[in-house]
Amino acid sequence: MIKRLWANRSKAKVSLPHTDGVPPENVPEHVAIIMDGNGRWAKRRGLPRMAGHHSGMKAVKRITIEANRLGVKYLTLYAFSTENWKRPKAEVDFLMKLPQQFLEIELEELIANNVQVKMMGHREDLPPHTLNAVEEAIAKTAGNTGLVLNFALNYGSRKEMLEAVQSIAADVRDGKLDPKDIDDEAIGKKLLSKELPDPDLLIRTSGELRLSNFMLWQLAYSELWFTDVYWPEFTEKHFNEAIEEYGRRARRYGGV
Ligand code: IPE
Ligand code: IPE
Ligand code: MG
Repeated sequence: MIKRLWANRSKAKVSLPHTDGVPPENVPEHVAIIMDGNGRWAKRRGLPRMAGHHSGMKAVKRITIEANRLGVKYLTLYAFSTENWKRPKAEVDFLMKLPQQFLEIELEELIANNVQVKMMGHREDLPPHTLNAVEEAIAKTAGNTGLVLNFALNYGSRKEMLEAVQSIAADVRDGKLDPKDIDDEAIGKKLLSKELPDPDLLIRTSGELRLSNFMLWQLAYSELWFTDVYWPEFTEKHFNEAIEEYGRRARRYGGV
């Protein structure tokens, strides 16, 4: 009821200073984004794919600041999948340099904005320069209490689940876990996302309508929002559109 009242008010363009018309209770706690379309954005401009990835970094910055401003608590950004290693070596090398580049330029401002950096992914296959940059940012922002900026880097949902199953099987073998006690929570604790709530809202840019091995377990009841806009041209306005649409959805979780 309250939600409906607020929805009507936001339609009437009554805005709050904090959330521009989205009442605080309608701001998702956790937004996850499949940042897609960098290559096509560049191609459309006659530029190399790398120019698209470079421009995509700027979108990461503006959406992080906006999410923080709106009071989103967790922002998970899919930056590199376990399947992206299939790309040409030059592109993979470029992508592996981006975290370092991004953090060199932006870390200070992230700290000033009270942002906590985290990473969700298979650390073992990352080159040391990539992992070190991320670990340094994690350490330097560990005491912050604002938005959690979670980079899904070398992340793959199937690998994540496979490793969870292996770990659970080992616990059972070692007598640490009774199969009867394997529930949603026990599985959740074995996933790379164990410190995060499930995403409330998933955004994918670039017009692709698929999950591409992203958070398959965690997205079970997330609201999905797709846009044709390529990631480098994704702005605060698009982000707000997604959040406003989220506020109009009725989440039923199988109930009535
Ligand atoms: C997303 O853009 C960035 C990564 C997957 C690393 P793409 O590089 O996938 O761009 P398109 O989909 O080829 O346009
Ligand atoms: C998903 O995008 C991975 C990231 C955004 C990091 P892809 O461009 O790799 O996905 P597909 O290949 O189109 O499914
Ligand atoms: Mg793509």
